[in-house]
Order: sequence, then C-alpha cells, then structure tokens
Amino acid sequence: MTDKRLEDLGERFSQIAHHYDDKHGGEEKPIYNACASLVVDHADPRPDDVVLDLGTGTGLIALALAGDAGHVVGRDISDGMIKQARAKAEESGIENVEFGYGEFRDPRYDGPVDIVVSNFALHHLPDEEKREAIEVIAELGPRRFVLGDAMFFGSSDPEEPLFGHGVDSATVGMLVDVLTDVGFAVTAVERVHDQVGVLVAERAGDGGFTHP
Ligand SMILES: C[S@@+](CC[C@H](N)C(=O)[O-])C[C@H]1O[C@@H](n2cnc3c(N)ncnc32)[C@H](O)[C@@H]1O
Repeated sequence: MTDKRLEDLGERFSQIAHHYDDKHGGEEKPIYNACASLVVDHADPRPDDVVLDLGTGTGLIALALAGDAGHVVGRDISDGMIKQARAKAEESGIENVEFGYGEFRDPRYDGPVDIVVSNFALHHLPDEEKREAIEVIAELGPRRFVLGDAMFFGSSDPEEPLFGHGVDSATVGMLVDVLTDVGFAVTAVERVHDQVGVLVAERAGDGGFTHP
C-alpha cells in the first residue's frame, strides 16, 4: 500500500473515530463481538507479558488485555483512532498501555514483544502485503500471534458477502500457509462465521503443534 493510500485510509478512520465504538450495528455486531472476545481469550497474556496490538483502532483489544498483561502497545495509522484509544485509557485509569502511530509492516516498536494481536484490521492490506505484515510480525519474535479478521472459510467469492468495500479478505488456507511459512504453528482455528475467524499461531517449540 502506498503512503498516500495509507494516509487516506487513516484519515477515513479518523473521520469516524468519535463514533466508531457505536457503529457496529445490525448483522455484523454479534460477529464482531464474538471475534473480539475470542482474540482476547486466546491472547491470554501472563502478568509480565508485553502485548502488541496492530490496527488497534480505539483500543478495544489493547484495553481489554491491559488488566492481565504487563504492558500493552497499540499501533494504528489513524491519528483520530489513536486519540480515542488514549482518551479511553485515561478515563479508565489504565496506565500500562501506550498508543501511537505504527503500520503493520513498520510497527515502530523496538522493545521485546511476547504476544501480537490484531482484530479486524489486516483485511485492509492486499494479500501480498498481508504476507509481508506476517513476516514482520514473526521477526518481532512473539511466542503467540492471535489474528481475528474477515477471512474466507468457504468460497472466496461468496454469494452473500458480509462485508463491502474496503475489506480484502484472505482465505483461511492462505493465512495458515503464510503463518506456517514464517515459523509459527497454527494451534487453533476458530470459525466465527463463514467469512470471519480467529487464528492462533504459536512459535513451534512453545507448546504448539506443527501444522501438517
Ligand atoms: C475496523 S478497525 C478495527 C480496530 C480494532 N482492532 C477493533 O477491533 O475495534 C481497523 C483499524 O485498522 C487500522 N489500520 C488499517 N490499515 C492499517 C495498517 N496498514 N497498519 C496499521 N493499522 C491499520 C485502521 O486505522 C483502523 O483503526
């Protein structure tokens, strides 16, 4: 994605940031909520873990994990969304989170990372860039990566698409292949909907099994 496209996308999210948390209405809402809960449950950080949330938005996942983790880092390309996330942290008195600018392929966080999470954000990248993003995530060396997102379990050309413009879903197979290629073992595949799921990837040798 070019810098200009990233900038435009970040700006689009900034324009809706103030009402983003109310916007998940209608058919999508239970699916989105179920996906978010699974991401939080599977992340399961230890008290001294550093968690990195990519495409953190208004901090839904980052803030939900802050109580259990040592430190949580939220990264996003939208200044408006980051501002909302910071305001929510402050209102809730949560001090072990930090929010700032960062892109999937350049998260701008140099410290050690134990767990990477991402919810409903990777679909903004075309498949080739999803691959690059997952390579960057693997290079950060987390023991676990939990990805919740739009992804196709069945046909990649469904008769009733759940999402419209701006959602570039990958197939589950493609994502599992890339995760495996970069050295993760996929230890759980949660199907929330035929077009939404959560994948849990662990460093091989950290209790995960190797994907066949
Ligand atoms: C649909 S929102 C999801 C936010 C949050 N994870 C949640 O579950 O509520 C997608 C977020 O991804 C961010 N985003 C899109 N492309 C990104 C990229 N390349 N790198 C980092 N964040 C990105 C957007 O700015 C937006 O805040």
